[in-house]
Amino acid sequence: MKVMVIGSGGREHTIIKALKKSPEITALYALPGNGGIAADAVCVNVGAKDIEGAVRFAREEKIDYAVVAPDDPLVLGMVDALEAAGVACFGPRKNAAIIEGSKVFSKNLMKKYGIPTAAYETFSRLEDALAYLETAKIPTVVKADGLALGKGVIIAETREEARQAVISMMQDKRFGESGSSVVIEEFLTGPEVSVLAFTDGSCVRPMVSSMDHKRALDGDQGLNTGGMGTVAPNPYYTPEIAETCMRTIFLPTIAAMNTEGRTFKGCLYFGLMITPDGPKVIEYNCRFGDPETQVVLPLLKSDLFTVMRAVTNGTLAETDVEIADGCACCVVKASDGYPQSYETGFEITIPEDLDAEVFVAGAKLDGGKLVTSGGRVLGVTATAPTLREAIDRAYANADRVTFANAYCRRDIGQRALQAE
Ligand code: AMP
Ligand code: GLY
Repeated sequence: MKVMVIGSGGREHTIIKALKKSPEITALYALPGNGGIAADAVCVNVGAKDIEGAVRFAREEKIDYAVVAPDDPLVLGMVDALEAAGVACFGPRKNAAIIEGSKVFSKNLMKKYGIPTAAYETFSRLEDALAYLETAKIPTVVKADGLALGKGVIIAETREEARQAVISMMQDKRFGESGSSVVIEEFLTGPEVSVLAFTDGSCVRPMVSSMDHKRALDGDQGLNTGGMGTVAPNPYYTPEIAETCMRTIFLPTIAAMNTEGRTFKGCLYFGLMITPDGPKVIEYNCRFGDPETQVVLPLLKSDLFTVMRAVTNGTLAETDVEIADGCACCVVKASDGYPQSYETGFEITIPEDLDAEVFVAGAKLDGGKLVTSGGRVLGVTATAPTLREAIDRAYANADRVTFANAYCRRDIGQRALQAE
């Protein structure tokens, strides 16, 4: 079968490496892919948001199956367009991707169906939001309604900071139309857990839990980034918490989407906080997480393509989703200065004999050489029987992958080790 994967990051490289193991796949394309992905798939110069381009390429190449990995094309309706052109897809349709595309939608869904989440109010008029903030409990959390590259969430420690956040989103349009409406919600505390789950709209099969490290600097200091590293499993996600999440969050979410006529098929990402009152939803994503995928898929024992097709065909209940024992750690190597300004164009050296996998995100080929081209350049993932070994192995290998101006956090997994 001929398969194409939409996207160009470390997540897409991980998905492609996993798909490559499937004996049924005869040709693998990435739209647009990147310089590292080019070693594992044919990269095609079609942007990840270019719906017409993807449909045209799928028709011309007679693609059998498409995996739409990033949030933007899903929210824009790429799956609907490809399906209309006769291409089977992994990923939700537009009317279900709204679970990530609109925080107002997802918060109202949770309230309507009694799914545990932070208490909140939504606003589409600046005056109303500002009036509410006069008496709101501080700290409070201000969120832009739409997609904002993971940057549309502001934890306001003071009333003035909350006011500024609302003004920058609703009046100054810092996130464009994404901030036309905002959610203002209760500040929750507790460890965070990411759970990625396959669902075909009736059956839910969670993969191994994971922990992201979003801040740029050691000790969770510095600016928020797309994610500087991950570990799996997440020690805070005990079997008891997992059972509670299945009963109070996962199954009710799937049922709620069905009742709304928005059946979700694909990978649903539950961003959870384990609060003193039990697990609550911080956010839903309509896709695999990045860099969670880089630790979750290496621990998936079942054939990824078989599971994906079961999701598409609605036969997930009859399909094994086996998770390997053991642990994984992904250390992201970034360009120094990320997430602000940084230099690129430096040659990357990856030794042949690594004891880990390299998933490339921000790199391109330049005269046959792999050079840096983005903020997050690559992730190095090691698996091992224990978390301690996985972390040590990930760092030992990450230190052997070199490029000028490289930066990584040195404490990925330390909080998880302490929790164990
Ligand atoms: P999100 O983009 O919704 O995942 O939010 C980004 C980060 O902000 C989350 O990973 C949390 O660390 C934090 N956050 C979001 N909502 C809340 C909340 N209600 N209380 C405390 N922290 C939050
Ligand atoms: N790692 C968080 C995300 O993918 O949104």
